[in-house]
Amino acid sequence: MKYFDIAVIAGDGIGPEVIAEGKKVFSGIAHMDGGFSVSFEDFPWGCEYYLKTGEMMPEDGLDRLKDFDAIYLGAVGYPGVPDHISLGDLLLRIRRGFDEYINLRPIRLLKGAPCPLADISPQDINMIVVRENSEGEYANVGAHLYTGTEREVALQTGVFSRHGCERVIRYAYELARREKRSLTSISKGNALRYSMVFWDEIFAEIGKEYPDVEIHSLLVDAASMFFVKDPGRFEIVVTSNLFGDILTDLGAAIAGGMGLAAGANLNPERKYPSMFEPIHGSAPDIAGQGIANPLASIWSVSQMLEFLGEPVWAERLLTAIETLLVERRTLTPDLGGHAKTAEIGDAVLEILKR
Ligand code: NAD
Ligand code: IPM
Ligand code: MN
Repeated sequence: MKYFDIAVIAGDGIGPEVIAEGKKVFSGIAHMDGGFSVSFEDFPWGCEYYLKTGEMMPEDGLDRLKDFDAIYLGAVGYPGVPDHISLGDLLLRIRRGFDEYINLRPIRLLKGAPCPLADISPQDINMIVVRENSEGEYANVGAHLYTGTEREVALQTGVFSRHGCERVIRYAYELARREKRSLTSISKGNALRYSMVFWDEIFAEIGKEYPDVEIHSLLVDAASMFFVKDPGRFEIVVTSNLFGDILTDLGAAIAGGMGLAAGANLNPERKYPSMFEPIHGSAPDIAGQGIANPLASIWSVSQMLEFLGEPVWAERLLTAIETLLVERRTLTPDLGGHAKTAEIGDAVLEILKR
């Protein structure tokens, strides 16, 4: 019998609502399989915790998480706590602290999912974005000088290390080779003449070791246009931290919406736990109403199952989500249905049990 020990940080806003459904589905699957069991430990960290204690998580937070098999996170951030504090001291602290340098975000239009683009079918939108997740534009380097004076200056430094670029680009090449799919690098070398030119050079350099992989390079502005006009040209995509953040919300928009977009923060060496989360935020505009779509969180359970060595369940779970979308019986309002968040996990389990 295998045991999976999962740390859960449900977080803020709709985080706890969607995570409850993901836990329900994960436990249900463990029950059906009988070959593994899962236990969750909940950590009450987030904005409410901050308002009580003055910190987003305890100082030894990472230490308390480090022995789990994975971390399952809902969403972080809420009006009342500045975003740079709530995100910087919890989500980004975990990504950086556990060297989760790969952010794997599938952009895949499942059958039955709504798409705002004309003349598009599911096979036209099926890519995996490999986002650099540890440095780049998100490196925590900068300064705010002469605050409140006329000389006020804010500096925010991008950090593109050879080590950092090489490891994410190599990961993407390996993935493209394994899946026999093309690889597109998205950057901005025409304007960012140090960081992005360096990125492009490393992309070309490593490419010499992968003559079997078809490669493309695009500037991020043109790439954004092609995400809308011709998403079928993208298979595996590798890009920087900030560009990956923006492009994957765009990706979510063309592939069913924020309620259907999942992401995995991976430390591929497994020295530290990896973290699985929907890519959406805490959605304060709909929090507390029980109408958030938990399918992104449930999809991230599928990614977690894959990572934990249960690829068959990972695939079955994704197929069950697709069946739910095609049948249209139990869907939340963002997908045109009337169901409550808390009904979705049960509906997915019902499909899995058929
Ligand atoms: P958001 O992703 O929370 O919401 C954007 C829009 O999408 C909203 O209209 C929201 O209602 C909708 N939406 C998002 N998830 C949904 C779901 N599951 N079902 C139905 N509709 C959904 O982005 P935002 O409003 O820019 O950010 C809100 C807060 O969340 C901010 O504090 C932000 O910093 C934070 N944030 C956190 C994360 C994270 O924890 N990973 C990610 C993004 C934003
Ligand atoms: C995401 C989020 C985070 C990011 C924020 C909340 C710091 O937008 O996971 O996409 O930019 O990485
Ligand atoms: Mn984002």
